[in-house]
Amino acid sequence: MRPEFVTLYEVGPRDGLQAETAMVSTADKIALIDRLSATGLSYIEAASFVSPKWVPQMGDAAEVMAGISRSHKISYPTLTPNLTGYYAARAAGANVVAIFGAASETFSRKNINCSVAESVERFGAVCDQACDDGIDVRGYVSCVLGCPYEGAVDPAAVADLAQIMLEMGCYQVSLGDTIGVGTPADVAKLLDVVTARISSDKLAVHFHDTYGQALANILTSLDYGIATIDSSVGGLGGCPYAPGASGNVATEDVLYMLNGLGMETGVDLAKVVDAAWFISGVLGRPPRSKVGQAMRPR
Ligand code: HMG
Ligand code: MG
Repeated sequence: MRPEFVTLYEVGPRDGLQAETAMVSTADKIALIDRLSATGLSYIEAASFVSPKWVPQMGDAAEVMAGISRSHKISYPTLTPNLTGYYAARAAGANVVAIFGAASETFSRKNINCSVAESVERFGAVCDQACDDGIDVRGYVSCVLGCPYEGAVDPAAVADLAQIMLEMGCYQVSLGDTIGVGTPADVAKLLDVVTARISSDKLAVHFHDTYGQALANILTSLDYGIATIDSSVGGLGGCPYAPGASGNVATEDVLYMLNGLGMETGVDLAKVVDAAWFISGVLGRPPRSKVGQAMRPR
């Protein structure tokens, strides 16, 4: 049941850096992405085309997209909450974009300033246009195991939104424990409901390590046949609209575990650790990951 090959979907340059309050220069963002491009990763989420008033750190998305050295083997997805963002991403040469909704009403309003139903309308417009343009769309469902404002979240609400996103044309939906509260038991309850309706090859998982549960949750998800794992170099991240959310699970921690399990990823652990230390140097603190610290480059 566990997959033999796992795709690591790197979110550090976007989900990681968006949470940093000190501005990171465009040149350093580009240098991080270029380093990650040399690791064997095939997906590197590079930026967000969102309002710079809401997320100032992502205000240079077009410059980042223009400055990176793209490999034809790698996709560089960007977040697009609406058609305004989509058109900007298309102009910047994005070949994959991502819509991002939530299984919780309050989080949807705080994060993208609209209800879940309104977000579905906006996402539908993005998906229709992207389909016409031949651009792939990924879906995110946030707060799948808990909402910072509403508490418990119904797995059926997660499955409903994920199904809507797939019907709109998303090639995959990533299920996000945005505040990192879930345990393996919660993950199993969620995936029992979701995989009864959606094939696991259409799903990815996205864990935050707030309570130290992320690797255990990933192992549980692998047992459900999920073969795409979101992770963030150096454990960068949080979410500007999810108070208390600590970093995304670190790419190097996930990779170390997958290597130990004998699962193929095509990603070079030492090069990821180098990239983690590079961005940590920029941010002026060590990587949050255990593996990053254990494998500190000399
Ligand atoms: P709004 O204010 O409701 O938008 O924001 P509006 O349509 O009323 O427009 C207001 C102004 O924003 C206008 O400009 C628009 O042009 C502009 P003005 O006339 O005032 O000069 N605008 C835009 N500018 C740039 N890019 C755009 C865009 N759209 C409108 N795309 C909006 C709605 C969605 C834009 C806003 O709420 C927003 O930018 N939110 C950002 C949310 C965000 O990035 N959150 C972090 C994402 S992380 C996450 O969701 C979790 C995830 O990582 C998974 C996990 O970790 O679990 C995915
Ligand atoms: Mg995240």
